[in-house]
Amino acid sequence: MENIDNLKNHTLDAINKAQDLKSLDEVRVSVLGKKGAITELMKGLAALSVEEKKEMGKNLNILKAEIEKALEAKREGLSVAELNAKLASEKIDVTLPIRTENQGRIHPVSKIYEEVVAIFGQMGFEVAEGPDIEDQFHNFNALNTPANHPARQMQDTFYIPNPESDNFDDSYVVRTQTSSVQIRTMEKKQPPIRIIAPGRTYRSDYDATHTPMFHQVEGLVIDKNITMAHLKGCLYDFVKAFFELDELPVRYRPSYFPFTEPSAEMDIGCKKSKTELKIGAGTDWLEILGCGMVHPNVLRAGGIDPDEYQGFAFGIGMDRLAMLKYGIPDLRTFFESDVRWLKHYGFLPLDESSMTGGLSNNGGSAR
Ligand code: DAH
Repeated sequence: MENIDNLKNHTLDAINKAQDLKSLDEVRVSVLGKKGAITELMKGLAALSVEEKKEMGKNLNILKAEIEKALEAKREGLSVAELNAKLASEKIDVTLPIRTENQGRIHPVSKIYEEVVAIFGQMGFEVAEGPDIEDQFHNFNALNTPANHPARQMQDTFYIPNPESDNFDDSYVVRTQTSSVQIRTMEKKQPPIRIIAPGRTYRSDYDATHTPMFHQVEGLVIDKNITMAHLKGCLYDFVKAFFELDELPVRYRPSYFPFTEPSAEMDIGCKKSKTELKIGAGTDWLEILGCGMVHPNVLRAGGIDPDEYQGFAFGIGMDRLAMLKYGIPDLRTFFESDVRWLKHYGFLPLDESSMTGGLSNNGGSAR
């Protein structure tokens, strides 16, 4: 019995004194491990008489339980202390500035996307969406471009077979233009409609100013008494805000798109030299977008009565906007995922575009 008391006092004392989880475990092994003191005493029970065995066995079990409890309590205490020490030593001050060399960048297309949404959002436009994989109805037919219409040749379309039909007219396309979202919107919404639809578009084309996947933003306004004057005012405000210029000469040239009548292309004034392109006053012109009054056939295809409603629409190449605004010469580099390129042309993540806070955060760019 004296033996047991000694062992108990000695062990509890060791537990108490343990400074960390490792030394605590050493105490555990010294009493409860394979060769531990209690384990040895348990083994010794076999040599005792029945009476002694009963008495000693009971005492040993009580001792074991007591020691386990003390170990557990100490372990908990030490774990909390160790965690606190770790937290204190690994403390991070989240208010410190970011190490710029480790910081990611916003891709110029994402930046342009934000800027375009900020400008049109301010004018009261909503952002609308449609699928990248389209049927020919939404990408072509409903946009007054039926099968065999010569305008289908204007775009090098990627077709996708329809597993349910061998008829070529039923095959899908990856949308060649965001104009498909015009129809998707009219199907869901009654006028007044005022949307922009930024997104990915696809055509089989590849050179310094064309890539098979590129980005457009579509615009559509439909209401009663909408005229070409609304179109002109809206787009004029857009280009001035986008290029962050108070004065920017623009002109409209007659053009052709199957889904608009009349159709036009908008040019902005610029000065071109061998080494530089300067947007603003100058003697040269740069084509920037396609636009026009929505063709009555398109309104009809979207379930809207052209005798009651009119609208205007426009389509802008967003990558081209990025190239112009940020002086990026080759479109193919946009999609090469080269981090050095992104470091050079990308934008700092926290510089959000807004009409009041600054659109391109001049000077906020990583360049
Ligand atoms: N969808 C045309 C294209 O990809 C661009 C366009 C032109 C869109 C005129 C329009 C528009 O909405 O009115 O070339």
